[in-house]
Amino acid sequence: KCFKKVDSCFQRKFGTSTAATKTDAPNKKYKIDSKDGNKSFYTVQEEKIEQAERSVLISCPAKTNEKKFLSYLSRHGDINKCFFYESYGTYAVVEFSNKESLTSLHEGTAIPSINHEATVPFKSRLLSLRNAGPVDMSNGQSAPPCQPQTTIHINELIQRLSKEASIDQQISSLTETYQLTEENVCLRFLVCSLLKDIAAAYFPECTIRPFGSSVNGFGKLGCDLDMFLDLDGISGRNLKRPKAGLSLEYQTKRSASERAGTQSILSVIGECVDQFGPGCVGVQKILQARCPLVRFAHQPSGFQCDLTANNRVAMKSSELLYLYGGLDRRVRCLVFSVRCWARAHSITSSIPGAWISNFSLTVMVLFFLQRRTIPILPTLDHLKELAGPLDKSVIEGNDCTFVSDFTKIRLQDNTETLEQLLQEFFEFYGTFAFNRMSINIRKGREQNKPEMSPLHIQNPFEPALNVSKNVNGTQLERFVALCRESAWMLQQREFNVPHSGSATGNNAPWGLAALLMPSVSQVAGVKGRKKRKREPASERIKGLLESLKNSEVKS
Ligand code: CTP
Ligand code: MG
Repeated sequence: KCFKKVDSCFQRKFGTSTAATKTDAPNKKYKIDSKDGNKSFYTVQEEKIEQAERSVLISCPAKTNEKKFLSYLSRHGDINKCFFYESYGTYAVVEFSNKESLTSLHEGTAIPSINHEATVPFKSRLLSLRNAGPVDMSNGQSAPPCQPQTTIHINELIQRLSKEASIDQQISSLTETYQLTEENVCLRFLVCSLLKDIAAAYFPECTIRPFGSSVNGFGKLGCDLDMFLDLDGISGRNLKRPKAGLSLEYQTKRSASERAGTQSILSVIGECVDQFGPGCVGVQKILQARCPLVRFAHQPSGFQCDLTANNRVAMKSSELLYLYGGLDRRVRCLVFSVRCWARAHSITSSIPGAWISNFSLTVMVLFFLQRRTIPILPTLDHLKELAGPLDKSVIEGNDCTFVSDFTKIRLQDNTETLEQLLQEFFEFYGTFAFNRMSINIRKGREQNKPEMSPLHIQNPFEPALNVSKNVNGTQLERFVALCRESAWMLQQREFNVPHSGSATGNNAPWGLAALLMPSVSQVAGVKGRKKRKREPASERIKGLLESLKNSEVKS
């Protein structure tokens, strides 16, 4: 219904969905597990960007009557989609069928006049619904149904997983619980679109695209929103000058380097976001970082935002992860479980530091899946071989070419269960030669380490860079120790089958749920962290066994 006009260049490049033609090909092993079917990354991006451009975000009184609200707004045009959510108040995302409706909506929207305060008359698409009476907006109704934008607490997750009948079901349930919802993804694109309106004051033809976990298929509800100010699409940028005759070109300001240019653009846009961006608070310009960025909180959505510019390689790695995640449903399931396990044991953290990042962990899972006896995932070199002429991409001298069409990829017939894979993941990294070897998803094989960082994961598109350069020896040791402990636990009957009390409703943690339980030393707090090193891993297991015994007694 709301099919958009995909930019013709994208259409040529990525075509439309052709999975159906391939499903009955001989040696059919190809299946897709992505909510967007087999659409290419860029097709999905362009569709969602266009939907966001037809949308508005409205703060509503808590007891808004949905029907009256929609009937009031539909005077501006047909509404395609609407949902409500809570974030310091009730908000509605409203997507119109046509962009023209926004012109009508803007015409009927007032700039507030607040006593003793001045307002910046910037007409954004973040609005507030006011009721000067006598319309009864509650109409006896309590509140419109709200879509959750955050996920459940880890303790609740442990309880939920303990009720499942198998480890495979636990892994699927965790993925279902944590993954981004369709509404949350819409909201992410809408926030990018609202920011684009600010950046458009300087660059009317720019696009702000989400990247990273918001779009790569591995995002958890509540994850940050990584954004990229894309100036590449500005028309005329790549216009060839005629070899002979007259032509015109723009006079432009020059900067010493691309980096310096990016820094000044981000500095100015960051200032605008800070001064004029409604709902944007705590703006920090982090321009000296390897990848300069502007960080802020977008209050109405509750997203922590990182805005970068000129970050095309990160966009490519998001596309690659999206492709890998869409090839086989086990990929996303395993990544979600490993990420959750790592977070539960503070292997990863929301604060940057010497710990392993979610991105590194994801690449480690992909590598593990390439290293199965029957590989579940192809190497990046193989994906490059499958690329068509339109997939060619060279960014800053690095060849980032790989196939974008899912249907060209033939997978091998690996039938391992999620339980087996989780177990083997822990064994694989519990015994990996981190001291000598580097993880390399391009080759799908470990390579000799080119430098002595404790953990070396080659950046798939910038081979000279180590994705996990920040990780120190202690953090790697903790990861390895926890892998070994978890591998051991999954081999024990006490942990790998549902507890006998399950039928009576006594759901002691088992399987994946037991793996997510905090360790004894962590419960003891920061001091305990130091103690953990000396404490044998079996202390934690002893504690868990004890809790199982106790619950058996109770049941
Ligand atoms: N990235 C990269 N190299 C790194 C770190 C990040 O190429 N050393 C790119 C990846 O594409 C990554 C994106 O930047 O997906 C965003 O980074 P980050 O927010 O750290 O990771 P996410 O994948 O978004 O995961 P999270 O849910 O933790 O935000
Ligand atoms: Mg992120």
